[in-house]
Amino acid sequence: MSAEKAATSEQTAIGIAHSKLILIGEHAVVHGQPAIAVPFPLVGVEATIEHLPGEVQLESTLYKGLMDRAPEPLLGIRDCVRATLQYLEIPYKDLVIQIKSSIPPGKGLGSSASVAIAVVRSLFAYAGRMYTKEELLELANISETYAHGAPSGIDTLTITSKCPVWFEKNGNVDYIKPSSDFYFVVADTGRIGDTRTAVESVTNLLKAAPKKIQAKLNRLGEITHQARHALEKASKQLLGQILNEAQKELEALGVSDAGLNRLIHFARQEGALGAKLTGGGNGGCIIALARNELHSRQLSEKLKRFGAHKVWPFVLKKQDDPEA
Ligand code: MEV
Repeated sequence: MSAEKAATSEQTAIGIAHSKLILIGEHAVVHGQPAIAVPFPLVGVEATIEHLPGEVQLESTLYKGLMDRAPEPLLGIRDCVRATLQYLEIPYKDLVIQIKSSIPPGKGLGSSASVAIAVVRSLFAYAGRMYTKEELLELANISETYAHGAPSGIDTLTITSKCPVWFEKNGNVDYIKPSSDFYFVVADTGRIGDTRTAVESVTNLLKAAPKKIQAKLNRLGEITHQARHALEKASKQLLGQILNEAQKELEALGVSDAGLNRLIHFARQEGALGAKLTGGGNGGCIIALARNELHSRQLSEKLKRFGAHKVWPFVLKKQDDPEA
């Protein structure tokens, strides 16, 4: 799916969005450190708006019915829809919003942010209006505040980007140019994680032991700089070592779990140059750096046989001309 596509006919409009992967820096980014995330186009969301007189309705796998009666996990989307319609000066009524997603929720792949981006795009398409990136991010982040509590904004930004993103919460954003292809495997533990709770638990740890935890966050920041260098200098070995070190720090922050550790150790044992959790953690997915394309396919098969719920071999392409 092309992230930029938005189509409209007389009565319906469509907005789509791809997913994202955090390569390094999750959690630390919430506390001011840099992080690197990459667009993950293998899964995505399509939101369709249809005109239907009556109250606003939502049709999704999780819930089908009146938007105003949607369950707690969808309140962010409800508020995002309300705010977007208000922004577009369209009354909050006479709409059915259908969400189709191939992104497993709660797996660190940015499902909530992708839904929000696709929905905002579909509403702009419905209004026959173009949006700026700033408008898109601001409106989608209304939903992310529900999903993450205190989102850094990295998920929504990466979902609107075509290339790897260097992200700092203070607004320092840059686009990274990998100087060769990097082959990864993303593997799902099958366990749903809760990013909001994981983010809160790190914040509580930081309050309880500021010196110790700040040192870990700082270290994650330092190695994120090294990871950027490794991507730009095509240094796979170095990137692998950095991913392993990041995992050590994330374990110390309490956001890894037995299921993630099991897949990570197995991937390393099977020759991955490095492996770590990706996203909020405590459930969700791992990302493993393979040696080459063939190895990424072999590793995917092995991880699947080992019990990974789902696997995606994934290439981060060399980029000559990064653009947002
Ligand atoms: C979630 O994909 C990344 C976290 O760092 C939260 C955030 O940055 O909003 C865990």
